[in-house]
Amino acid sequence: MADRILITGAAGFLGSHLCERFIREGYHVIAMDNLITGDIRNIEHLMKLENFEFYHHDVSKFVHVPGELKYILHFASPASPIDYLKIPIQTLKVSSLGTHHLLGLARAKKARILVASTSEVYGDPLVHPQNEEYYGNVNSVGPRGVYDEAKRFQEALTMAYHTFHGLETRIVRIFNTYGPRMRLNDGRVLPAFIGQALRGEDLTVFGDGSQTRSFCYVDDLVEGIYRLLLSDCSDPVNIGNPDEITIMDFAKEIMALTGTKQKIIHKPLPQDDPKTRQPDISKAKKLLGWEPKVNRKDGIRITYEYFLSLSKEDLYKNEHKNFEAYIRK
Ligand SMILES: NC(=O)c1ccc[n+]([C@@H]2O[C@H](COP(=O)([O-])OP(=O)(O)OC[C@H]3O[C@@H](n4cnc5c(N)ncnc54)[C@H](O)[C@@H]3O)[C@@H](O)[C@H]2O)c1
Repeated sequence: MADRILITGAAGFLGSHLCERFIREGYHVIAMDNLITGDIRNIEHLMKLENFEFYHHDVSKFVHVPGELKYILHFASPASPIDYLKIPIQTLKVSSLGTHHLLGLARAKKARILVASTSEVYGDPLVHPQNEEYYGNVNSVGPRGVYDEAKRFQEALTMAYHTFHGLETRIVRIFNTYGPRMRLNDGRVLPAFIGQALRGEDLTVFGDGSQTRSFCYVDDLVEGIYRLLLSDCSDPVNIGNPDEITIMDFAKEIMALTGTKQKIIHKPLPQDDPKTRQPDISKAKKLLGWEPKVNRKDGIRITYEYFLSLSKEDLYKNEHKNFEAYIRK
């Protein structure tokens, strides 16, 4: 019998890639998602497999899974600013109540659990690059607080279960990741620029574009998560690509790649937008023997080809279809 792993947020960008990876590794994957920001098409190709099953479920409600579980990966959560500004309460609930339910399930099943945290726990950082010892600079009542504080609470709760119940836990702090299956309309900078280029619109840079980000290709991230899960490290570990770039230079790279003749326009910086973002990955290198392998040029080309393959409807869609139904609940 194959070992069984539960992956929450499985129909999302990262969750769908994790499902594929664990299937390739010979696991029986139980995928769970309420589809609030995800898309069932991301995992449709796995549905016919014997070692894959899908539960349509909101993990902010009690989670029941029959049978044994060896591992749980908790990746359910809105992840882009546009999403969590539109559904702030659901965002707070999934990383607090949802995490509580999954930690309880892990305890009942004697499973090891890995939770998806984020570089946003560092807020608008005063330390650069960000290492795991930095406590962060977060505005708890600002618009991004619903995401950042929920993830900080998630880390605290996970560590408490480790300390008080002896649960085997892992915490990954993910820095900006990109790749196929990101949503073109989710407001993250890479799909936003590519979407604008493909629609023949000007590229919008917030502020003067001197703010920096560091982009990690999804396959590198998945490899880091896989190694962290199998490691014995219960402290948080940064996984990301330290190759830092200003948003202005990034916009120019996308213009060169897509060949768009549009121009760059500027809009005011959103409140609490981090000015810098670069992971210090010394810990991951030392403990996991991990570092990213895919350079930005190659990764972006693969991602661009994915976006080119989407329908016109996807290209022009600006609302996520599932929000309305969930907001009324
Ligand atoms: N992509 C990144 O760059 C990045 C960076 C830092 C952290 N993360 C974390 O990784 C995880 C996945 O992010 P993503 O980029 O794949 O986002 P995504 O929006 O594509 O995927 C999240 C998935 O979680 C599901 N979900 C949300 N709330 C749920 C709930 N209550 N019950 C069940 N399912 C629910 C959504 O429907 C979606 O399929 C998130 O926890 C996010 O905070 C991602």
